[in-house]
Amino acid sequence: MPNLDAPIGVFDSGIGGLTVLSAIQKLLPHENLVYLGDTARVPYGTKSRETVTRYSIQNTLFLMEQNVKAVVVACNTASAHALEYLKGKFSVPVLGVIEPGALAAHKATVSGSIGVMGTEGTIKSEAYKKALHRLSNKHQVFGVACPLLVSLAEEGWLTGDIVDLVLEKYLAPLKKTQNPDTVILGCTHYPLLKNAVQKCMGNKVTLVDSAHETAQALKEILIQNKIASPSALQGTLQVYATDNPDTMARLGGHFLGRALGSVHQADTSGLV
Ligand code: DGL
Repeated sequence: MPNLDAPIGVFDSGIGGLTVLSAIQKLLPHENLVYLGDTARVPYGTKSRETVTRYSIQNTLFLMEQNVKAVVVACNTASAHALEYLKGKFSVPVLGVIEPGALAAHKATVSGSIGVMGTEGTIKSEAYKKALHRLSNKHQVFGVACPLLVSLAEEGWLTGDIVDLVLEKYLAPLKKTQNPDTVILGCTHYPLLKNAVQKCMGNKVTLVDSAHETAQALKEILIQNKIASPSALQGTLQVYATDNPDTMARLGGHFLGRALGSVHQADTSGLV
């Protein structure tokens, strides 16, 4: 019998996954949570499938040591490259952000023309495209790698001329040639840039935020597996970073939407 009070583990390459954690906390306030940001090895978006998979295994092993009852891969790039492997390797339910994001876009689109914004790794993997085509082979899916947006979001540059120019440069071909009615914000950092992306794409385009949909999918998994916390108390949150925990504690508030509190140092590099 699993321990229903055991925490849910959430990992990301760094602080961006706190957007997913925030959505989980809102939807499942009674769950205890452990968050790991692999700040020593961020970014994952530019790294190979093999490297991202190795890091993802180590992150999951660290969370398993915290006795988690389920794992959420909050990083889009790690979900794109490593999710299937992690699902096969670990005994607890493992959930990524790609399937929930794709499902939300599938529900939102009318024309079937869907844009996907993500890191180079996520776009090259075509993970969103494959997930959307599993839902309907009529969808037309266009991926756009937007590598600079992670740095802009981490700098706290969420609106303004520079953000508008960068977005225009990345998104103009998508707007002009594909005219999508739905765009997936397929990276942990992009929900912070939602207003700027909306301005660039226009108000008729529906933006899909994987964070909210992932929290919803997690809730369903907890219910299906009968592992939801029965507690009526506010859940606890433990946050770990593999490097510079103080920086994460300082910057994390932007992503979580409130002060993060203390962040502990974690070492995952020796885990196999
Ligand atoms: N967390 C990554 C993602 O969602 C973005 C940052 C990175 O490249 O590591 O794809």
